[in-house]
Amino acid sequence: MSDLGSQRLQGRVAFVSGGLRGIGLACVERFLAEGAEVILSDLDASDSDHARMVMAQLGQAATYVQANVTREEDWQRACEVVIQRHGKLHILVNNAGTDQTGAVETIDLEAWRRIMAINVDGVFLGVKTFVPLLAESGREVKGGASIINVSSIMGLVGFNEVSPYNASKGAVRMFTKGIAIEFAQKKMPIRANSLHPGFVTTPLLNEGFQRWVDKGFAARPQDLVDMMAAQTPVGRLADPAELASGVFFLASEDSSYMTGAELVIDGGWTAQ
Ligand SMILES: NC(=O)c1ccc[n+]([C@@H]2O[C@H](COP(=O)([O-])OP(=O)(O)OC[C@H]3O[C@@H](n4cnc5c(N)ncnc54)[C@H](O)[C@@H]3O)[C@@H](O)[C@H]2O)c1
Repeated sequence: MSDLGSQRLQGRVAFVSGGLRGIGLACVERFLAEGAEVILSDLDASDSDHARMVMAQLGQAATYVQANVTREEDWQRACEVVIQRHGKLHILVNNAGTDQTGAVETIDLEAWRRIMAINVDGVFLGVKTFVPLLAESGREVKGGASIINVSSIMGLVGFNEVSPYNASKGAVRMFTKGIAIEFAQKKMPIRANSLHPGFVTTPLLNEGFQRWVDKGFAARPQDLVDMMAAQTPVGRLADPAELASGVFFLASEDSSYMTGAELVIDGGWTAQ
């Protein structure tokens, strides 16, 4: 990552949902290191200890908005903050997401709807809300504004007892292709691509592994980390910064000819 901190996003404004932890936070940090101004959203109250700690570390170029991605009124409010503070938006990362595990016959309809609301409605609402601003701001950028929707390798291949997550991430993958074609055909200066991470060391993964332990699939979360690492061709899990590198590429003019594509960063998992 020789270009880290190269200021290649100077003058750009980026929005990242779910930006207080994991992959989202790594994207925020990378965008800031590249000179962008960043608005991040998450569920935490603005005056919560965690939000205050993260925002203090990020500094003045970052703005926090408490917003639940499932609520359209929260997206509207977030959009007003972006317009008031910056008047433009070049990069949208729909990153907020959650998981759901269990045998399909044990999944409550309510739990199914919850994951669809966060992982699918949340991406749709983010795109819907920001398209007018992205289309306007995208005229300033080679290749146009960039939407990066965070899917998963689970949006490409099936996995045992994660069928609602598989379904939600598959929907993100195809929604992204749909909007990419729509924008291109209408000559709107917006690109849209999906990101497909493999296993990444984040709070989401750790909490998911703890649930598998609680169900008796393993004695300790570390056993699951070791198992996933052994099943990954490169022999380890990813660091969130390694995903942020891919998101930075999709956000930058280096990917100006990419739209409707899938960027897989999975240590070779889906190549097997
Ligand atoms: N960690 C992995 O191994 C992995 C693999 C593939 C894909 N992903 C995807 O990457 C994205 C980020 O995952 P992560 O591992 O960094 O997770 P994480 O739990 O560490 O971070 C996700 C953030 O999203 C926020 N969030 C959750 N629901 C929200 C809502 N309704 N509104 C606003 N914010 C909300 C959380 O509070 C959290 O801060 C997710 O879409 C996830 O599905 C993760």
